[in-house]
Amino acid sequence: MNTTIFDIGAEGRTGLRLPPSDVAERPLEELIPSELIRKEDPKLPQVSQIEVVRHYTKLSRMNYGVDNGIYPLGSCTMKYNPRVNEEIARLPQFAQAHPLQGEELSQGILRLTYELGELLCVIGGMDAITLQPAAGAHGELVGMLLIKKHFERAKELHKRTKILLPDSAHGTNPASAVICGFEVVHIPSDARGLVDLETLRAHLDESVAGIMLTNPNTLGLFETDILEITRLIHGVGGLVYYDGANLNAIVGRARPGDMGVDIVHYNLHKTFSTPHGGGGPGAGPVAVVKKLAPYLPVPVVTKKKNRYILDYERPLSVGRVHSFYGNFAVLVRAYTYIRMLGEAGLRAVSANAVLNANYLRTQLSKIYQAPYNRVCMHEFVITTQGMSAQIRTLDVAKRAIDYGVHPSSIYFPLIVPEVMMIEPTETVSKEELDNFAEVLSKVAQEMRENPQILKEAPHAVPTYGASVRRLDDVRAAKEPILREGNPHPASSPPS
Ligand SMILES: Cc1ncc(COP(=O)(O)O)c(C=O)c1O
Repeated sequence: MNTTIFDIGAEGRTGLRLPPSDVAERPLEELIPSELIRKEDPKLPQVSQIEVVRHYTKLSRMNYGVDNGIYPLGSCTMKYNPRVNEEIARLPQFAQAHPLQGEELSQGILRLTYELGELLCVIGGMDAITLQPAAGAHGELVGMLLIKKHFERAKELHKRTKILLPDSAHGTNPASAVICGFEVVHIPSDARGLVDLETLRAHLDESVAGIMLTNPNTLGLFETDILEITRLIHGVGGLVYYDGANLNAIVGRARPGDMGVDIVHYNLHKTFSTPHGGGGPGAGPVAVVKKLAPYLPVPVVTKKKNRYILDYERPLSVGRVHSFYGNFAVLVRAYTYIRMLGEAGLRAVSANAVLNANYLRTQLSKIYQAPYNRVCMHEFVITTQGMSAQIRTLDVAKRAIDYGVHPSSIYFPLIVPEVMMIEPTETVSKEELDNFAEVLSKVAQEMRENPQILKEAPHAVPTYGASVRRLDDVRAAKEPILREGNPHPASSPPS
């Protein structure tokens, strides 16, 4: 691909024709202050409709997504998103609502928001919720703000300086804690791949503000000591933050609230099916126990005498964390998904997510080493370590592309060297799982017999469009070309 939409078309070409104006023309200067009027025309693409359609169709064919096939990115839950979600999110009453149209005209929208909050509280076993955060990491930040507020009110913030963080937590967790001014204390995993309770106990004192626990953790394992962990943290007056982005594994079966958790975030764009990738769009609602409810961000959607209102009268709130009320279209999709599946459907989601992961783990652990090879939750890790002196996990992942499948996450979690983190999700069939296992098996064979083919992969693959090839990672990092058409790397001195 070497053309952008600006490189095609011709001077004066256009893709639409406007009807003649039915109002009297007036000079621009009468309507817009002169300092705001452009001196020259904007450089917009000049293209016909068919050129636009062909250009973007060509681009879309060079992509790979859940609509193409298995997309087993561990920790990212790239699963099929039912089309009914899209239909509902596109209803004009939702899609064309204006955020400033006021409560009176937004009763349906507020009702959906309120009911989604209630459903998520039931699913998580929590008491109150905000739907504003725009992503999981944003939810974590809100959670940390809530912990801060809690200790500020208790006049203990000066001594509650630490957040305990298992090394199997998601990578965004420490960042969220540090941004809020906490010191992060890493807790290692033990031989089981779970939180090392001895080390945890050794760090417990009144300097602990809380723990951030990803459960199931990033090794795909359920923290079986969670009741003991929440008891220990509460024992020193700390709060338990539960990273619920992996709820796919337990939804409908176990609830963070029943485990003694104080704050939990949900990744609606993962568990509750909104297409995402490349950074969004998402929603990371945060639910809390009753005592933390007064600190939730404003506004909170509440119900008074059968009317839904946006409650701003919350003097203890941490404030606003998103413009308007969050990523509303994501909320519509999650609501549709939950209502469509119901309790039995949600239970089936977690059952199949875990079943699929274990089926694939069993296949792949015959070929690759699985450092924690026992029943996992919705994802698992394997490693290429020790299989070849020349071949790294990166090469295996790149070679998988040649076979038309999307590779798994690689090099995360950091605690397993040369790791592949695989999450097939509940929406792939047995045939797809078998095909994925067969591809990785072939690649393992090639690793022994023809390692060079892995080193040079991917070679051009039709599934991915014609131009997929190995990037020069080092050069890309050292000489980033950040602008289309700019031959000079960002590091060049200005001429
Ligand atoms: C366990 C876990 N926590 C947090 C996050 C962060 O979520 P987001 O990418 O929406 O910020 C992720 C994302 O994949 C995750 O897997």
